[in-house]
This record gives sequence, C-alpha cells and structure tokens, in this order.
Amino acid sequence: MNAGGLLHVVGARPQFVKLAALLRAAGTPERHRILHTGQHYDAGLSQVFFDELGIAPPDAHLGIGGGTHGAQTGQMLAAIEAVLEAAPPEKVVVYGDTNSTLAGALAAAKLGIPVVHVEAGLRSFDRGMPEEINRVVTDHVSDLLLCPTEQAAEQLAREGIVRGVHVVGDVMLDIALREAPRVRTTPLGRFLQGETAALPAAFSAAPPVPDGYAVATIHRAANTDAPEVLRRLVTALGALGTRVYWPVHPRTRRAMARASIAPPASVVLLEPLGYLDFAALLSGARAVLTDSGGVQKEAYFAGKQCFTLRDTTEWRETLGGGWNTLVGADPAALVAAFARPAPSSPVALDLFGGGHAAARCVALIEAPGAP
Ligand code: UD1
Ligand code: UDP
Repeated sequence: MNAGGLLHVVGARPQFVKLAALLRAAGTPERHRILHTGQHYDAGLSQVFFDELGIAPPDAHLGIGGGTHGAQTGQMLAAIEAVLEAAPPEKVVVYGDTNSTLAGALAAAKLGIPVVHVEAGLRSFDRGMPEEINRVVTDHVSDLLLCPTEQAAEQLAREGIVRGVHVVGDVMLDIALREAPRVRTTPLGRFLQGETAALPAAFSAAPPVPDGYAVATIHRAANTDAPEVLRRLVTALGALGTRVYWPVHPRTRRAMARASIAPPASVVLLEPLGYLDFAALLSGARAVLTDSGGVQKEAYFAGKQCFTLRDTTEWRETLGGGWNTLVGADPAALVAAFARPAPSSPVALDLFGGGHAAARCVALIEAPGAP
C-alpha cells in the first residue's frame, strides 16, 4: 500500500455504506486507501456492498473477524498499527461505532496520525452497549469530529470536545437519496410497482403485498445473547397480525439455532440482503422493527414507522413526530405500539443534512490547515 492520502478503516456492513458516500463525494480516487479489518467477512455482509455501491477493493484486508471484543479489537489494533507504520497516511478516517472504528482510531491516535470520525457525537447513554464504549473513546481521540446532527455536536460540547467539531449531516441519507432510483429498478422494486414477473425467488413462497408487511432486523448483543430475550422477540414478531420479512444476521441465525427457536408462520426468514434489495424491501413495507442504528434512520428517511427493539437510541431525532418508538424487548409493548396509527407529520430530512453530508465531510477533511 502507498503512503500518504487518506486511509479509511472499515470492517462492518454499515461502514461500507458510509464509506461509499464519502468516496463518491470525493471523486479523487488516488487520494484514498481502504483498510478492511475483516470484521464482517460473509459475502452477504461485505462483498455485496463493495459490488453494489461501486467501492474499490480494499488496499489491505486484515481478515480479523469473530472472537471476543477484547481479542477482536486487540488484534485489529496491532495489525492496523503495522499498516500505518509501513505506509503512513496523512489522516485516518473511521466511521460509526464498531470495534473496527475503535481500533482504527486508537492505532492512528497513538502514532500521532490525525483521526477523522464520521458520525461523531452520538450517544445512547447505555454503557452496556459495546458500541457506546466505542463511540465515547473514538470521539475523545479524534481530531476532526464530523457530526450527523446538531444534537451530536451539542453532546460533544457537554463532554468538553469543541475543537474540530462540525455538523455535516448524515452520510447514509446521501446514499439513500442517491440510490432511490436504482432501488426501484431492482427485481423486488419492480415487483412492488406491479411487475409480477419480476418477483425474486427468495420471495416466491410468500410474495410481498405493498404496505401489507413489516421488515425486521435483529443483531444487538442485548437481543441475541440471551435465548429467552430472543425467543420473546421472535414470538412478538409472530403476534403482530401482519407478515414480517426478516433478513437474519448470521449472529442471530446462530443464536436461534443454538436455542432451537423457530419462526412463527407469519415470519419469513431471509438471508441478509444487499443494500439495494434491503432498501427495496423497506420501500414497500408498512413498518419496520429493528435494533439497528442504521435501519432506524433509513426507516425515518423513507417515512416508515419504526419500532425499535431497544430501550435507548443514539438517533433521538427519529423519535420526533412519533416515527420511531422505543419498545425494548417487551412483546406487549411492541404489539400495542404496532397497532397505533402511523404518524401524519412529515419527516424532517433537514435534521440529517438534506443529502449533502458527504461533500461537507470531504471539504472539511481536505481543507488546507484541517487537522
Ligand atoms: C457489529 C458491530 C455493531 C454493528 C454491526 C453491523 C461491534 C461491537 N459490533 O455487530 O456495532 O451494528 O456489526 O452489522 O463492533 N458473523 C458471521 N459472519 C460475518 C460477520 C459476523 O458469521 O460476516 C458472526 C460471527 O459469529 C461473529 C458474530 O457474527 O462472531 C458477531 O459479529 P461481530 O462483527 O463481532 O458483531 P456484529 O453483531 O456483526
Ligand atoms: N442492511 C442491508 N441488508 C440487510 C440488513 C441491513 O443491506 O439485510 C443495511 C441497512 O440498509 C443499513 C445497514 O445495513 O444500510 C445497517 O447495518 P446494521 O443494521 O447491520 O448495523 P448498524 O447500523 O446497527 O450498526
């Protein structure tokens, strides 16, 4: 790998989406290198995003996936450090809140290489979430903190971080808006618009009826590690009175198999979907049930009612107007909330930068004299 330029450290599904937004806005491929930690390694969680979103192959791939948090983060830290020493970049760019984010930020900060954090300032205020630890530590070692919302910047100020902080908007909104026309041309997108012959094979046993189904995703430790919690959630999905399509994260698939949890008849399990297919599925849904950070936002952007299977959210803006409701892992709360009518107020995309976040990120990162 060449020295200089910007090194983007990524490893998990949502980070590939965010990286794609930045690379598109940058338009200077020679300035950018990609380091993939290997945290997500299945093709359906990794390669499909590179292919669909036109991301160049990684310049370095560490192959570090699985293991405990300490082992995973520690191995990444050592391996990223070696890459940075062999070919020092001008800056390291990290995204979001995964173990790959933390390892990239720490490795760079300890070598005195400026750290850029895209999606800085988010807090769920739940230190039981591994992601919350990753967010806090990453923000406190970052030099340029690119916040998706005003609330995020205000939170950083409360923690004493004011230098290098900028509100840029949310880069996932950029991608959601740009990809909407392509999403409509996917087989599922075409089927949902009435082209019956376009129905993808994965849906042939249970074709979706526009506005007649919900979409679920579940992958958080709090919902997957304890079998009784996962069992309760799955039972609740079956009690909503509507069909639920659920692309299952491999972690959750394994947890279900271990605990012998079978889906109720109205719940259709799918393999993890690529970005475009997932967006198409979301576009036809009546509502979304999720513990994902990114999916809460994408539901809001698409004007879909979201029921978040957590007690906290780092995306509090999505709660406005009743578009997102925190229901935890309580089946009764979920079923009761799901029966309520959809909100009537419009969603506020301007709270998330209106689709211009990545260009602002690039301008700030590349500005003369920027950290
Ligand atoms: C990770 C992030 C989480 C993010 C999510 C995005 C951390 C602490 N967690 O959670 O913040 O929301 O990615 O999806 O960084 N596995 C596979 N194949 C894969 C990847 C994972 O089978 O390609 C299985 C392995 O058993 C692995 C487990 O899933 O041990 C968990 O993977 P890991 O990347 O540690 O956490 P996620 O739950 O994916
Ligand atoms: N996603 C996807 N296919 C799926 C489920 C999710 O492409 O089957 C996308 C989703 O559209 C969003 C991102 O993955 O862009 C969110 O990732 P995830 O929920 O795994 O992580 P989080 O956002 O919670 O960190």
